[in-house]
Amino acid sequence: MLAFCTLDADQWTQSFTAAEQERAIAALEAGQVVFCPNLRFVFIDCEDKFFSSAWSDGTSKNISFDATTGRLKGIRGGKSDVAQLAALMGRFAAGTRTLLDNLLPAYRDALVQARTSYRPVQIKGRAVSMAKDDSRLHPDAFVSRPAGERRILRVFCNVNPHGQGRAWRLGESFEPFARRFLPRIKPPFPGSRTLLYWLRVTRTPRTCYDHYMLGLHNAAKRDELYQKSCPQKAFTFPAGSTWLCFTDQVLHAVDAGQYLLEQTWLLPVAAMRSPDQSPQRIIQRLTRRQG
Ligand SMILES: [Fe+2]
Repeated sequence: MLAFCTLDADQWTQSFTAAEQERAIAALEAGQVVFCPNLRFVFIDCEDKFFSSAWSDGTSKNISFDATTGRLKGIRGGKSDVAQLAALMGRFAAGTRTLLDNLLPAYRDALVQARTSYRPVQIKGRAVSMAKDDSRLHPDAFVSRPAGERRILRVFCNVNPHGQGRAWRLGESFEPFARRFLPRIKPPFPGSRTLLYWLRVTRTPRTCYDHYMLGLHNAAKRDELYQKSCPQKAFTFPAGSTWLCFTDQVLHAVDAGQYLLEQTWLLPVAAMRSPDQSPQRIIQRLTRRQG
């Protein structure tokens, strides 16, 4: 069962001892959650208006910010509001970068920034398709943006102003999970990954790993019995807390919560201290044995 590594941090610019850095990298790569109960992200006065689900365009799961283009998606609002929320999200993204630089200096030169997201909609009761239903335990796997040789490292901050926690469940470790579901997933059909790329379903061609990861993600969400009876542990992240984990490795589900900021960072497997612990290498090992 998954464990936590709790860190006593209350500033985004905080420095960490060598022992804390060591504890954090070992925990993350082993598939644990690093939890900072006192690390909050503060909205400045004029930003309080963003505490409303009305900012969501109603069709996207989240409001997302792409730092490379400066564009915000999934928002309903005027030009100046959009610019203000983009600035808030940019400030959060910069805070997570400083945190990671100080906490995980071994990753410093290899991290690549991906989307920033703001989630102003209450999770509980939200109607979505099964594949998009994050209240079912799953590892993260992107449909249109294949990860390939990159890990998905996400920093989450519960910014709820009413003291509401974000209720998660955490599942079993990645390897037993992959062993259980991999035999159900057929190898990729020859040419299918190139075809998906040509048809612009994916932005880059899927690797074999991407094929199997998406298969694992979907198979787990579809399996009602597994969802009910697999080993899992509930945990509520309090308002004003921050946590991070490799979400391609940690099986997670979210049951309730509103107002969350999240920043995705991509890390090449080769930049890990122990690449053998990555889902990429685990799946490679298991599919070789299977085939
Ligand atoms: Fe997820």
